[in-house]
Amino acid sequence: MIPKPTEISEHRPRVLVATTNPGKLREIHKILGHLPIQLVTLDAYPSISDPEETGTTFAENAKLKACYYAHSTNELTVAEDSGLEIDALDGAPGVRSARFNGESYQEKFRTISKMLHERGRTTSTARFVCAVAVWLKDSMIWETIKTVEGRLKLPPQGDHGFGYDPIFYYPPYGRTLAAVSPTEKAAISHRGQAFRALRTDLKHILAKT
Ligand code: IMP
Repeated sequence: MIPKPTEISEHRPRVLVATTNPGKLREIHKILGHLPIQLVTLDAYPSISDPEETGTTFAENAKLKACYYAHSTNELTVAEDSGLEIDALDGAPGVRSARFNGESYQEKFRTISKMLHERGRTTSTARFVCAVAVWLKDSMIWETIKTVEGRLKLPPQGDHGFGYDPIFYYPPYGRTLAAVSPTEKAAISHRGQAFRALRTDLKHILAKT
C-alpha cells in the first residue's frame, strides 16, 4: 500500500499521482515506490472532485487531468490516461474504456463479443495505450505515450491485473495479461513502459521544481 503523506519524511520532494484506480496505483507504486520522493495520492485531497474527461485522445485527457489536479493542489502532478483500442471496432472502447457499456467488466466483455460478432469477427488485433503528463504550476513539463500490441481473446482468462487484462492476449507470453504475474505484465505493458520512462527522467523533472 502507498504510505499516507504524514507517515513519510517531509524532506523528500512530493509527487502527486493523480489517479484513484487501485489497479493503476498498484502498478505505478511498484515502479516509483522505492524512489527518494513522497508519493502522494488523491486520498490526501478527498474534497477535490474528478474533472470531466472531455479529451478525444489519451494524451489530451492525461494533460487535462494533470493540469486540473496541479492547479487544485499546487503539487507536482503526474496524471495518466489509458485504455484499450480494438482495431475491428474502429478503436473502441478507446478513451471511453472506463465508461464503456456495462457496469462490470464481465458485461463489458459480453458487449465487445457481441459487437465483434455483428462485424463477423471473433477476435481482433488490439493495443493498450498509456499517456502520461506531468504538470507543475502553469505548464506541462513532461509527457509520453506508450503502447503494447496484442489480440483479443474471449472468453476471459486469468485472475491477475484489472480491467480488460483477462481478454488481452499477449502473443510473446502466449497468455492474457491477467494470466501472467504482475512483474511479467509490468515488463511489457503500456503503463510499465511509460512509468519507467518517467522514472528515468524524474531527476531532471525534479530539478525544475
Ligand atoms: P481512465 O481512468 O480514464 O484512464 O481509464 C482507464 C481504463 O482503461 C481502465 O479503467 C481500464 O478499463 C482500462 N485499462 C487501462 N489500462 C489497463 C490495463 O493495464 N489493464 C486493463 N485495463 C486497462
